[in-house]
Amino acid sequence: MRWTYLALSVMLLSAAHAAAQQQQQELYLRIPADLPSKNPLEGDPEAIKAGMGAYRVRCADCHGMDARGIRGPDITQVWARGRTDDALFRTIRHGVPNTEMPAFPLPRTSDMDIWRILAYLKTMATPVTDTPRGDSTAGERVFATNCLACHLVNGRGGRLGPDLSRVGVARTRAHMARQIRGTVADFRTGYEPVVLTTPGGQQIQGVKKNEDLFSVQIMDTRERIQGYLREDLRGVANVKISAMPTFGPDKLSDAELDDLLAYLTALQGQEPQVANENR
Ligand code: HEC
Ligand code: HEC
Repeated sequence: MRWTYLALSVMLLSAAHAAAQQQQQELYLRIPADLPSKNPLEGDPEAIKAGMGAYRVRCADCHGMDARGIRGPDITQVWARGRTDDALFRTIRHGVPNTEMPAFPLPRTSDMDIWRILAYLKTMATPVTDTPRGDSTAGERVFATNCLACHLVNGRGGRLGPDLSRVGVARTRAHMARQIRGTVADFRTGYEPVVLTTPGGQQIQGVKKNEDLFSVQIMDTRERIQGYLREDLRGVANVKISAMPTFGPDKLSDAELDDLLAYLTALQGQEPQVANENR
């Protein structure tokens, strides 16, 4: 009987805790009810200077010092593409759920901090420049032949590599070209290549999904998720070569690469969830 009460109160407490956490999170992500539609600090030299400092510390790792994108997208053309100041404010406050774009919650990032960063970004804004090269219909065929086996697009394809349904928003054209030609040096988390050796000497290749001191979990090249205890293995070796093959000019001509990039750039997935007015 006592145990039942105890279990019940623990359950109630943790439910209350979760609700409180949720509330707190909403508080930190609050968008002011009277959010101006235009950046109140645009063109203000002090704000631009402060925004530059904040941008460099908090955004440049992903979007680049020049905002032309590294791991994250080019954000110099967001205005040219029709995004408004208040929509950008919301994107920065909330992040883009289920992507690498983090939220920048209160109290660490005030409303004014966001406006300052946007005032700085505005100084780097450019018109839409990249003249689209390549034919995306031809690119889709190239993709189906060479890539679909490992990558999902809108629910179809393989799972060894990352889902590419939103890659046109998330990555720059230049970054995708480097990935395809095989000149990206680091691996995406969850896709680090590994080789496991069993006590019998059998080697299992795959990408690492999880690991701790005692165990390692991988997806093997046949897309099976497998967990092993380290003590049951002869070796766990990180590999230096990506699980994604390199497509050099011998396999993919420059013209085919352009077609492929036209196709990939057009993969924009579903719209990032736009937060409703008063959250
Ligand atoms: C850890 C990497 C990372 C950091 C740090 C980061 N971003 Fe992002 N950001 C991304 C990615 C990835 C996307 C694309 C998300 C998607 O798939 O829509 C993105 C998207 C955006 C967008 C939307 C672009 C569009 O076309 O709608 C804006 C604006 C933006 N980021 C601004 C910022 C600002 C400002 C900061 C710093 C305060 C920042 N980001 C920090 C990775 C990052
Ligand atoms: C054998 C499986 C495999 C094939 C075939 C393959 N990929 Fe990949 N791809 C991967 C893996 C695994 C990763 C993650 C690699 C890493 O970080 O090293 C990846 C990463 C990528 C990325 C980066 C995604 C991101 O979010 O940064 C792009 C873009 C990409 N692949 C495009 C392609 C294209 C285009 C083709 C066809 C020409 C292709 N891939 C063929 C397995 C594959």
